[in-house]
Parts: sequence; C-alpha cells; structure tokens
Amino acid sequence: MSHSSHLDDLAGIGRDSRRGGYSRHVFDAAELELREWFTAEASRRGLSVEVDRNGNLWAWWGSPGPGAVITGSHLDSVPGGGAFDGPLGVVSAFEAVDSLRANGFTPSRPFAVVAFAEEEGGRFGVPCLGSRLLTGAISAERALNLRDGDGITFADAARRAGLDPERFGRDDVALERIGTFVELHVEQGRGLTVPVGVASSILAHGRWRFTFTGEGNHAGATPIADRRDPMVPASQLVLAARRAATGGARATVGRLVPNPGGTNVIPSTVDAWLDARAPGSAETRSMVEEITAAAGSAAADEGCEVRVVEESYGDTVHFDPALRDELAEILGGVPALPTGAGHDAGILAVHVPTAMLFVRNPTGVSHAPAEHAEPEDCAAGVVALAAVLEHLAR
Ligand code: GLV
Ligand code: MN
Ligand code: MN
Repeated sequence: MSHSSHLDDLAGIGRDSRRGGYSRHVFDAAELELREWFTAEASRRGLSVEVDRNGNLWAWWGSPGPGAVITGSHLDSVPGGGAFDGPLGVVSAFEAVDSLRANGFTPSRPFAVVAFAEEEGGRFGVPCLGSRLLTGAISAERALNLRDGDGITFADAARRAGLDPERFGRDDVALERIGTFVELHVEQGRGLTVPVGVASSILAHGRWRFTFTGEGNHAGATPIADRRDPMVPASQLVLAARRAATGGARATVGRLVPNPGGTNVIPSTVDAWLDARAPGSAETRSMVEEITAAAGSAAADEGCEVRVVEESYGDTVHFDPALRDELAEILGGVPALPTGAGHDAGILAVHVPTAMLFVRNPTGVSHAPAEHAEPEDCAAGVVALAAVLEHLAR
C-alpha cells in the first residue's frame, strides 16, 4: 500500500466538524478507535501488542528486551488539529517495518513501534503525559488527579479505558528496554526545504495557568467604575505575552475560558493558559516572570486577583549530537534543524539516545486543519526511517 493510503485509513476517525480538522484526545472515542487501529495494524503484521502501565502502546517485532530500537510517535491531536502531527510517525513506523521485511531484513536487536499517550495534553493539559509518566518526569499522583474540561480525572478516564491507575508511574522496565528512540514527525515550521531532515534541538517550553478572579455581575447594570472584571487583566496577559516574546522566544495564550461565559455577563473568573518557549531555560523563565508581573499589575488595577500555576515545563533539548550526525550521514547529508515544537522524543532524550526525523511541511502550518505534507515527502520519510532503523537494528 502506498504511504498516503495508510494515513487515509485514519481520515475518518475523530474529525471535528465544529473546529475543522481532528480532535482526538486520550481515551475518548476517537483515540480508542485509533488504538484499535494500532492493534489491528500490529496484529496484521504479526507484531505483539502491549499496553504498558501508563497506557502507551507497543508493537514488538520479536521479543521485547533491552537495547531495543524503538520508533513511533503519538495518535492524539490538539483540538482541531491536522492529520499528520503524531499519526504520520506511527503510520510511517509500520510502513518502515513493511519495507524492511520486503527487503528481507530481520532486526538483530529487539524492535518496536510505539504510540505514546496524550502527547498534546489536549485533554488533561500536560503534554507528553505517557512518556513523562514512563520516565518519571511527572508523578503518578499528579497525573492521575489531572482533570479534563468535564471534571473527569485522568485516573477515571484510564480506568474506563480498561487500565489500572494503581499501576501508573515511572516504568523502569519499559524505560530500560529502550536502546534508541527515533521519532519521525511532520516538520511544524518552514525550516526544512528538502523532503527529510533530522532534529537538532527543541526550545525550552512550558504551560502556565492564570486564574483571574473578579466579581460576576450584570453587563448592563454595572457602571464601569464599579466593575472588577477579570477579562480586563486577562486581555492584558495576552498583550504582555506578545510584548515579552522577543528574539527567538514565543509566547501564546491559546485558551481563555471565562466563567460563566455569557455575552451579557461580567465573568467572575477567567482562566487563561500561557504557552511560553525560548531557546534557553533562563530566557523562558524570565519571559514568564515578565508576563506574570504584567498580569499581576493589570489584575490589581482592576481590583482582581490572579493565581498562577505552572502546569508543565521542559528544559531545552539537544538531541544526541553523535546520533544526529550519524543519521544525517546515513541519509546522505540531510540538514539538522531545531524545532519549537515539543515531542515525546524530547522527554526520552534525557534518558536514552534519541533522534527525530522531520518530513517537510510546505506551508509550515501545524496544529491546524491545514497542516500538510506532500505524499512524495511522506514516502521519502518512510524510506529514510527504514534506512535509519536498519542501521540501528542490524
Ligand atoms: C506539541 O506539539 C507542542 O509543541 O506543544
Ligand atoms: Mn503537536
Ligand atoms: Mn506531535
């Protein structure tokens, strides 16, 4: 089967008619259907499927074991996301297995395709939840108590999906099996001008929740001077983020939720989430401090309060330079490029040799329905991934 037809198999799963694109969130109906697809694809190839203690899926070619070559990505999406972010890496992994087999290759090291759970943090707010749990970057207690927009805890959602929350947490057995991890991913900017490249680094990045509290009241009957409207400092947060993000830094308020959320209602509270990223940790931290200070003074001016909670943070990732160069060379000297996007590979890179392959994105659009990669570039991605895996697992 051609490359694009495999991604096409997923085209009908989790379409979001309201937002456009796809909404596939951990343990929701669409994501469970993708998990079934993963299991079926693995079984069809005689790979043995394992759901690990943290809800990550593994498809083993041969027996699981230490020193394994692991490839894959994630199946979940952002709300209203594109078709490629995540699934491309999983689909390409299965296709690389097919291609290796077609060439008569059998790995001499343990080998698996993986799909990590809740990479986007689209449902429970913390990105790379599956890989963070596996590596101990987040405690089971904190993860299990995270709540989705409907107040359902991660523990309850996992239980409903047939997992045992008691078993969640750092999984040394799973971690020690990983010899090398390679994640193929659609590029998310316009940095790649050839079909395939390798990743050099990931920006330091995190998420902060700002809760502004004022006084709920009537939009018509309350004189301006009498208001304590939390939307006013929340809007200053948005502007402060834009002002503070200079140089290579990025700051975004992509989600802002007024409570109760009525057109003729001054909200009593507003929750706003800041996503902040910069090349270095110190830079990221000082940008967030600047934004927080601006939000604090805007809140005070309006007679409101603001509470800030750090929901996730990850330092700059520099992918293993030797592995990066080795893979770039195998691929004929493809370019290495940094990315502003987070990945499970970034979480794993702290523990095991990790690399990423990027497939060109002609427009640079990602986390949006228009995200795209050309079929020929996706096919080149599979060829590159197969070459890399063959090299690592031989
Ligand atoms: C994940 O794609 C992120 O960069 O937030
Ligand atoms: Mn993403
Ligand atoms: Mn991704």
